Amino acid sequence: MAFSFRRLIERKRDGEILRDEEIRWIIGEYSRGALPDYQMSALLMAIFKEGLDQAELAVWTDAMLHSGDVLDFSHVAAPKIDKHSTGGVGDKVSIALGPMAAACGVAVPMMSGRGLGHTGGTVDKLESIPGFRTELDPSEFGVILERIGMVLAGQSETLVPADRRIYALRDATGTVPSIPLIASSIMSKKLAEGLDALVLDVKVGRGAFMKDLDRARLLAETMVGIGRSVGTPVVAVLTDMNQPLGRAVGNANEIVEAIEVLKGGGPPDLVEVCYRLTEEMLVLGGIEADRPAARRRLQEAISSGAAFEKLEQVVEAQDGDPRVLHDPSLLPRAGHEEVVTAPRDGYVARIDAFDIGTAALRLGGGRERKEDAIDPAVGLSVEVKVGDRVETGQPLAVVAWNNGGKLADSLPMITAAFEISDQLGTPLVYGELR
Ligand code: URA
Repeated sequence: MAFSFRRLIERKRDGEILRDEEIRWIIGEYSRGALPDYQMSALLMAIFKEGLDQAELAVWTDAMLHSGDVLDFSHVAAPKIDKHSTGGVGDKVSIALGPMAAACGVAVPMMSGRGLGHTGGTVDKLESIPGFRTELDPSEFGVILERIGMVLAGQSETLVPADRRIYALRDATGTVPSIPLIASSIMSKKLAEGLDALVLDVKVGRGAFMKDLDRARLLAETMVGIGRSVGTPVVAVLTDMNQPLGRAVGNANEIVEAIEVLKGGGPPDLVEVCYRLTEEMLVLGGIEADRPAARRRLQEAISSGAAFEKLEQVVEAQDGDPRVLHDPSLLPRAGHEEVVTAPRDGYVARIDAFDIGTAALRLGGGRERKEDAIDPAVGLSVEVKVGDRVETGQPLAVVAWNNGGKLADSLPMITAAFEISDQLGTPLVYGELR
C-alpha cells in the first residue's frame, strides 16, 4: 500500500503515533531510493522532536534490520554473543574481550566500526596489524566464526543499508543525538548479526555520545527494550568515559595495550571493563551461572594463555602477521615523542576524554574527513589517572608523532585536557540494566 509521505511527516510533527505498516513503508521505500532525502530529513527532525514510542521504535528497528541481509549462524553451536560500545577514547576493549569470551566457549561474531569524530574505531586499530583483513564476505565470516569462535570484521555493506543512508542524512541535518534514532541504528545492525544475546557498553561522560548519566541510562533502557521486543536478551553496562580508558589512545598503541590485557597485565581500569563486560557475555550464554564464576573462568583463560591464543588464531585467519603479538615493536611506530608534564603539584582532577580524543585525531590517528588516511603509529600514552597525586614536571602524557604541524595543532588540546587540583575521581562503572 502507498501512503502520502507528506501526511505521515505532518502526523509525526504533530506528535501522533505512526502505524506499523506506515513505518515499514517509509523504511522500505526510502531504502530503495523511492522517497526523497528532503522529506526523510523532515521526518527525522520530527522524530528528533517528538520521539518514537516503544511500539513504533520496535517496528522502526525491525524494518531497518530487514532492509538488507540478516546473518544466520545457526550452524554454529556455541551461543552467539557480541558486545557493542557506544564509542569512546582509548576503547580497545573489543580486541581483548573477543578472545577472552571465545576462549570460554562464546562465539563472537564481532562487526566493528571505524573512528567517528573524536572516538576511535576497532577496525582502524586492527588494521595497524600488518596484513590484517577486516573486510570479509559473509561466508568467510561464518567459516572463521565456526572454526575459531570469533571473528573481528568491519560492518558488512549488505547489512542494514537503510542505516547507512539514514545516518548520513542525520549527520547532515543535526538529528544524530536522538535517543530513538541512535538506539534503532545500533540495535538494527547488531540484531542483523543473528545473535543469541548482546552486551552493550554504554559510555557516559565528556568523551561519550551521552554526556550525562540520565541520558545514558535512557539510551540503555531504550536498547534493552528493543532487545526485549524481539526476544533477544540484552544487558547494558554504563561505564565511565570522562577520562580515556587505559593509557593508550591511538591505533597501533591500543593493540599493544589489548595484548597486555590478554597476557594478564594492562591498566586496571581497562582490565576491569574487559572483565565486567565479558562476564556478562558468559552469563548470558549460559556458560557460567553468575559473574563471580564467570570471572574465575576468564582469569583461567588469561593465565593459561588460551585467550591470547584465540587472538593469535584470529589474526592468522584474517591474514595478519601474528609475530606482532609477540613482538609489538613490529607494529607501526612514530618517529618522535613529546612529553607533556604537570605544571604544578596537586591531584589530577580531570583528563578530558573529548580533548584527548580530538588531539589523537589531529595528530593523524583519526579522520578529519571521511576519505582521510589514518597514521596508525601516532597517538598518546596517558600516564596518569584522575585522582592521582602528581608533582611539578611529572609526565602526564607521552605524545608519539610524525608530523610537526599536526603535533603543534594537537598540543594545546592535550595540555588543556589535564586539570590539576584537589578533586578526586569519578566511578568507572555506574550501574547496569537488564
Ligand atoms: N552509532 C551508531 O551506530 N548509530 C548512531 O546513531 C550513533 C552511534
